[in-house]
Amino acid sequence: MCGIALVLSGGRVVVARSGAAAAAAAAAEIRPSDEGKGVTVDELKDALRRRGPDSLGCERLRVCADGTILGSDGCNCGGGDGGDVGVTELCFIGATLQVRGAEPVSQPMVAQSGSILVYNGEIYGGIHVADDQNDSQSLLSSLESCCSCDCHALVRDEACPCCGSVGKSVPQILSTIKGPWALIYWQKDSKTVWFGRDAFGRRSLLVHWPTPDDSRFILSSVSPPSFEVSNSASTVKGVESGPDNDFSESTNMSYWEEVPCGIYSFQLKGLEKNSMCMKEACVFEVRRREWIDSSLDELIQWKRKSIVPTVDNLTSQKNSVGDYHLSQSYRNSTKTDKNAAYRVLTVLRESVMLRTNLNGLFQGDLNKLKDDELAPIAILFSGGLDSMILAALLDQCLDSKWTIDLLNVSFDGQLAPDRISALAGLKELQRISPIRRWRLVEIDTALTNLKGESERVMSLIHPSNTYMDLNIGIALWLAASGDGWVDGRICNMQDGSRYKYKSTSRVLLVGSGADEQCAGYGRHRTKYRLGGWVSLDEEMRLDVQRIWKRNMGRDDRCISDHGKEARFPFLDENVIKILLEVPLWEIAKLDEPVGKGDKKILREVANLLGLKEAAVQPKRAIQFGSRIARESNRKNFGSNRAANQASAGSVEINQRAR
Ligand SMILES: *[C@@H]1O[C@H](CO)[C@@H](O)[C@H](O)[C@H]1NC(C)=O
Ligand SMILES: *[C@@H]1O[C@H](CO)[C@@H](O)[C@H](O)[C@H]1NC(C)=O
Ligand SMILES: *[C@@H]1O[C@H](CO)[C@@H](O)[C@H](O)[C@H]1NC(C)=O
Ligand SMILES: *[C@@H]1O[C@H](CO)[C@@H](O)[C@H](O)[C@H]1NC(C)=O
Ligand SMILES: *[C@@H]1O[C@H](CO)[C@@H](O)[C@H](O)[C@H]1NC(C)=O
Repeated sequence: MCGIALVLSGGRVVVARSGAAAAAAAAAEIRPSDEGKGVTVDELKDALRRRGPDSLGCERLRVCADGTILGSDGCNCGGGDGGDVGVTELCFIGATLQVRGAEPVSQPMVAQSGSILVYNGEIYGGIHVADDQNDSQSLLSSLESCCSCDCHALVRDEACPCCGSVGKSVPQILSTIKGPWALIYWQKDSKTVWFGRDAFGRRSLLVHWPTPDDSRFILSSVSPPSFEVSNSASTVKGVESGPDNDFSESTNMSYWEEVPCGIYSFQLKGLEKNSMCMKEACVFEVRRREWIDSSLDELIQWKRKSIVPTVDNLTSQKNSVGDYHLSQSYRNSTKTDKNAAYRVLTVLRESVMLRTNLNGLFQGDLNKLKDDELAPIAILFSGGLDSMILAALLDQCLDSKWTIDLLNVSFDGQLAPDRISALAGLKELQRISPIRRWRLVEIDTALTNLKGESERVMSLIHPSNTYMDLNIGIALWLAASGDGWVDGRICNMQDGSRYKYKSTSRVLLVGSGADEQCAGYGRHRTKYRLGGWVSLDEEMRLDVQRIWKRNMGRDDRCISDHGKEARFPFLDENVIKILLEVPLWEIAKLDEPVGKGDKKILREVANLLGLKEAAVQPKRAIQFGSRIARESNRKNFGSNRAANQASAGSVEINQRAR
């Protein structure tokens, strides 16, 4: 995981969110100055360095009002020299966690043309990346081949005449990337700043819009600590305005906002043409660009063909699948060869393979992994259905000489429900793959011991701000630390004693996206009961389309704070596509009991993998399974009961309550 940022200041320039009203408001209220009261560049660097401990670099660029570039120089950004009147300063910061490529990379990357890229992501398809190459380098070369003519002013998919048949546009290139990413790119020829996040928001990117208190425009992977406290008091949970919501004008101002998934740009030239000048400031409006890839559009719209079954469909389904105890010969009939669970299994395995291919891991790290006790890849592990499937698939993809770390947090020691299921899960994995060394890392803690850590996680989850977010954030943050105990007796390691251990795996597999796509939440059952298949389908679509806002940014920020990289096999583009092709009634059967009908398709996948016990595990959310929710309720609300009455999970954390 890398950390990226851009700080834009000075030069009578105010960068405003899209929408004429917002731009006009910005022009009327904001006086640009270099002295923001907000976050400092040093604070940003410190926060980003935790995500990318291998290297940190900056590029400062100074641009005049007429678009002339005065030159770029090192890391002395926002150094308080005030800058020259009329000169806009752009400071790019990039911290790198090296997980790919043969040679160390450092960011920001500067192309020969003078263009600059800071990038946080992986490319699994769309743009070719050779095994020994770093993604950033490949992406930069592709972006440099883009036409730089003035396509910026065009709206929507209108063809850009000067691109013609020659080059692709930046949105075209970005739309083809398969894999998670967030980036900021300065295209020098067109004097355009591009930024954005992949279509599912699998990597974090926050934006600070200019305010009267801090007129700078800032993008960053994460909010620095101690900063959210005094500035988030007025934060109100964002209004859900549908999947395509642009930066919402109606939401109350918070210092940081999540950048909604998409590609954005603004151009720093032609004041008269591209901006609105009033009083002392010229306002540049950020435009949202359309994705230019029809297969990606289909995933974003998330439309399923088969939603409501006919009687025929249900009876023929009963005859072909659904009974796991069928004889092997029947399971291998032509009918089941085409069956949905096999297809899902195949595409999931491919997804895990892409994300764990050691050839693509940074070779420098692998060399350190000579000792086979070391584990190159770890799994956030509860012993539940999703993490068991990931573990079994990783086992199939990774040479059996490597150990696999299973990371599990508990706030109630051995008694927490998930610890019990984690132990049962370990036993089952040992049964299906006895040669593999499986190492269950038990991370135990008590909430009362976590004062400093809670403060830190508060800033990481920001702008998310409820107790539920904080509980999940702490559980993920601790899990990603990898710092716990191993029971040598049950893991068959180190002469059977219980010993302290800290996982050093830089890549963490996480099951995010399984519940949203396969109807794993209790609320899905309620929707189905009240409104049938159509209602269930709508709820699931809403879940997938807002996962960036509810989960992904927060989870990415908490996990990468340890210099680790989360990878999400269930959110692979091809997995999403195949799951959408499966009729809804084969995905879930919510009139069947919990532990059977929910995530039915994944239960079948688990069966195919030989995971008989995991296949019948009910869902338990991380905050409940680890008992952090119970502990947090006692601490913040007096008791679990009082907390439930107050719907504690969704209560926002304000300063008084902390
Ligand atoms: C990225 O990888 C390429 C190919 O291995 C290499 O030539 C290049 O130097 C690397 N980039 C940086 C900035 O080190
Ligand atoms: C903004 O905050 C005010 C007061 O804090 C509140 O009354 C208003 O409803 C909020 N607006 C939105 C759109 O959330
Ligand atoms: C469901 O049944 C209808 C006929 O009742 C059939 O036309 C359709 O192809 C079936 N759909 C699936 C996905 O099997
Ligand atoms: C399934 O059937 C095919 C063709 O009939 C055969 O080649 C294959 O080996 C069978 N697989 C299993 C697991 O029995
Ligand atoms: C580990 O187990 C706990 C309970 O022990 C469970 O709630 C939690 O989801 C697991 N942690 C992770 C990171 O999967």
